[in-house]
Amino acid sequence: MSEPIDQKREPEPLEQLSSTDLYVDGEWVPATDGSTLETIDPATEEPIVAVAAAQADDIDAAVTAARDAFPDWRDTDPDERGRIVYEVGRLIRDHADDLAALESLDQGKPVSQAKSDVIGAARYFEYYAGAADKIEGTSVPVGPEQVDYTVREPYGVSAQITPWNFPGNLFARGVAPALVAGNATVVKPAEQTPLSSLRLAELCAEAGVPDGVVNVVPGFGDPAGKALTEHEGVDQITFTGSVPTGQRIMTAAAETVTPVTLELGGKNPAIVFPDADLEAAAEWITTGIFTNAGQICSAADRAIVHESVHEDLVEKIVEIAESTEIAPGSDDADMGPVVSAEQLEKITRYIDVGTSEGATLETGGETLEREGYFVEPTVFTDVDPEMRIAREEIFGPVLSVLSFADEAEAVEVANDSEYGLVAGVFTSDVTRAHRLARRLEAGNVYVNKWFGDTNQTPFGGYKRSGIGREKGLEALDSYLQTKNVAINVDGDADLPGS
Ligand code: NAI
Ligand code: MG
Repeated sequence: MSEPIDQKREPEPLEQLSSTDLYVDGEWVPATDGSTLETIDPATEEPIVAVAAAQADDIDAAVTAARDAFPDWRDTDPDERGRIVYEVGRLIRDHADDLAALESLDQGKPVSQAKSDVIGAARYFEYYAGAADKIEGTSVPVGPEQVDYTVREPYGVSAQITPWNFPGNLFARGVAPALVAGNATVVKPAEQTPLSSLRLAELCAEAGVPDGVVNVVPGFGDPAGKALTEHEGVDQITFTGSVPTGQRIMTAAAETVTPVTLELGGKNPAIVFPDADLEAAAEWITTGIFTNAGQICSAADRAIVHESVHEDLVEKIVEIAESTEIAPGSDDADMGPVVSAEQLEKITRYIDVGTSEGATLETGGETLEREGYFVEPTVFTDVDPEMRIAREEIFGPVLSVLSFADEAEAVEVANDSEYGLVAGVFTSDVTRAHRLARRLEAGNVYVNKWFGDTNQTPFGGYKRSGIGREKGLEALDSYLQTKNVAINVDGDADLPGS
């Protein structure tokens, strides 16, 4: 007998969650005032489950737990810290299918994309685990009268404020290096997608991360995120999300002189030269803009195409856009719904803006006539660099195609943005590839591919795309401060400044 169709929509992924309360000091606790928030299944618009919603008092409890847990974690032998962090990665791999189903349900992305995020999360724990016992200082030669060395010490409590586009993956991107460096953490996941972070907190505990070292407090930006960034007990803040919220966080952090790492999105250019493999460029660019329904900080937002191949490339891109299959995440098509009603509204507003600005809608532009927050892959041509759809982050499956006549113009248009996260170049001329890699104002440059960054490579923005670097060994710098130790051996008094 065949299974009834709606069996597929049963929320089995939830069975893996032992609680939807706050995770503070190794315990599941409701919000002090009993507040909850409802997380929604973006494929059905139905609530999935109520989750405790942290208030200022709950944030205070989580920060206090992290402060109390910090000294012992800092003083744990680094090899032991590394083993525990590695074990988190192993457990994530063990539960990868369940975690992917949970993420897909809560966020909307196709389950195989969620699986890739989960494996990436495991990789962060594995990668940084190996660094735990290699965080070394230097010995500084200052002459025979003094022994001088540096040590790299954790800050203390790291606040992690994560967005809804890669919830579990970004939990790992921040928490793994923070832990390895010896910090305790308080994670405030986005209100739209709290579930995977709760599950990951539990896996951290199972791996042996001591109580209080990882706390997870779902809640809204205000009061939860705000209370966390204003808290005197927080020593470092890592944030991924929008520019306005990043600015608010930086302002709050200025009050307490707390360092911030900010990853704030982009309006990323993909430049296509006539000598490029156009078939491949079309594949990379559509992957770059339609993966996760375009809700990616490093999405390929702007194709900047040489006029001689413009028509040819657009034809290929439109063909791929029109063959993109759209379905609920659990059906694992090419594209799922976008995360929320607000995000769908924002995307459709930008589609209207594009049309009214005079861009040509080549394909897409419609929401699907069904429940769920579905919108078609959308391609605009005749986009002028001054148009809002060429300048503002849409965060949806909407590609803006611009054209250029010569290389200088391509670089100028690409760099004409307040953002500078990633940029791509498609060319078979190796000299040109290097020339552009040097000139493009972006933290990451991809040549003949998209999403070229890995767990091992530093990632972050130029200009308003952010401050600091995630990923790679460089990310550890966000979680360590340098102490210099000067020991008198045989010297007279030194004056300051000498
Ligand atoms: P957002 O930046 O407001 O939310 C991200 C996180 O910040 C969430 O956890 C949220 O609760 C928290 N937050 C909000 N206000 C806060 C505050 N005052 N203090 C501390 N934490 C706070 O992003 P939102 O509103 O969900 O999405 C709006 C737009 O932001 C999107 O359309 C997209 O363009 C951009 N965005 C960019 C992301 C990226 O990866 N760069 C990720 C998510 C959104
Ligand atoms: Mg949700």
